[in-house]
Amino acid sequence: MEKVGIFYGSSTGNTEKIAEKIKLQIGEENVETINVYDATEEDIKRFRNLIFGTSTWGIGDIQEDWEEFIEAFENIDLKNKKVALFGLGDQEVYGDSFAEGVAGLYRHFKDKADLVGQWPNEGYVFESSDALVDGQFVGLIIDEDNQRKMSDDRIKKWVSILQKEFI
Ligand SMILES: Cc1cc2nc3c(=O)[nH]c(=O)nc-3n(C[C@H](O)[C@H](O)[C@H](O)COP(=O)(O)O)c2cc1C
Repeated sequence: MEKVGIFYGSSTGNTEKIAEKIKLQIGEENVETINVYDATEEDIKRFRNLIFGTSTWGIGDIQEDWEEFIEAFENIDLKNKKVALFGLGDQEVYGDSFAEGVAGLYRHFKDKADLVGQWPNEGYVFESSDALVDGQFVGLIIDEDNQRKMSDDRIKKWVSILQKEFI
């Protein structure tokens, strides 16, 4: 598998922590983690395998550093790249907008890139989420607020899916 770039937006550190765990699971020598707050289009260009991760703020909003990145690099070229998404949320307090930050990434990138790494909707309890498309989550969903103990196992399974789908 070619080198992987993990770009994450994180306000209180949870998404950053998960990005680092995904890195370790893939193999740290083969992965770079980059805070999207500091990222440029040139950083994205260096990878054909990309992972974009965001938490959810407001009611179903994408993390703010991602909003700025998307605005700044609206026409970024992701052709011939594979992009996997992951999103964090809190299904107990925000069960009506669970992990919808990642839905913002999905809407922005779905026609620009080959999206991989969809994730089954099992093991979560929530009312609704725009992150569900055709009965599957658009990417890995992690809930550090309520299901922290399940995160390592979820990451392990998701990385094994990516290993088949990445270039
Ligand atoms: C003010 C506030 C708004 C939030 N809104 C949502 C939401 O709409 N949906 C959701 O699933 N989680 C929501 N969350 C939960 C966060 O996404 C979650 O705690 C996440 O792990 C934070 O990750 P970060 O530290 O990487 O930013 C919210 C949390 C706060 C404090």
